[in-house]
Amino acid sequence: MNIIFLGAPGAGKGTQADNVSTELNIPSISTGVMLREAVADKTVMGLKAKEYMDKGALVPDDVVISIIKERLVKPDCKNGFILDGFPRTVPQAEYLEKSGVVIDLVIDIDVPDEKIIERMSGRRVCPDCGASYHVVYKPSKKGDMCDKCGKGKLIVRNDDKPEVVLSRLQTYHEQTKPLKDFYAKKGILKTVIGQEEVADTTNLTFEVIKNFKNS
Ligand code: AP5
Repeated sequence: MNIIFLGAPGAGKGTQADNVSTELNIPSISTGVMLREAVADKTVMGLKAKEYMDKGALVPDDVVISIIKERLVKPDCKNGFILDGFPRTVPQAEYLEKSGVVIDLVIDIDVPDEKIIERMSGRRVCPDCGASYHVVYKPSKKGDMCDKCGKGKLIVRNDDKPEVVLSRLQTYHEQTKPLKDFYAKKGILKTVIGQEEVADTTNLTFEVIKNFKNS
């Protein structure tokens, strides 16, 4: 099963993609995570991407498409995959189509902008393993240390600064939201209304997947 998670920055795509990945035993592929790894490794591509990410803008399509192209041919994608944060523009979605990648289900997590701003201010991430937490909604059991890898001291993501969050939201409305129509026209778009509690959103997400499997 090939699934795309759509939604505004901070809507909870990564959180739900990880849950579904564990449940269905298929990889969750986040272009954001891969780009941040390239930034941390200071590769030429990473340094170029950083300029866009720090401003809350999208990294150019050709860069992101080349990352996805390499990733989707890996053996672990054979039985399905989850795309978290890709596609983010119509040309990226068209690339998937042209390459013959069949998407079964697109889950849009719908969260109002005001809620997004509140969530981003509380997000903390592990610089070592990339695990994501929220100080209120999903705290680490080890305080400001990562309880997944046990090594990293949790930090605020560079692009979670308030001024960058506003710019990411604007980018989302202008460039990514049109994808809802793109996939709705294909009849594969399902919307999950993001809930206050992570577990409630997870339940709704699994319900959508169950209904798809039974249809
Ligand atoms: P990326 O890392 O993909 O960022 P994003 O889409 O902005 O999404 P986030 O990771 O911020 O949020 P999320 O929706 O995954 O939410 P999360 O689960 O963490 O991309 C970063 C940058 O890379 C982009 O700005 C762009 O520059 C570039 N990029 C990436 N892909 C690209 C592409 N395809 N094309 C071009 N450029 C690209 O949850 C957020 C917080 O809320 C967490 O703290 C979480 O614990 C909490 N939370 C989650 N669910 C709930 C809930 N139900 N209730 C309460 N809290 C919750």
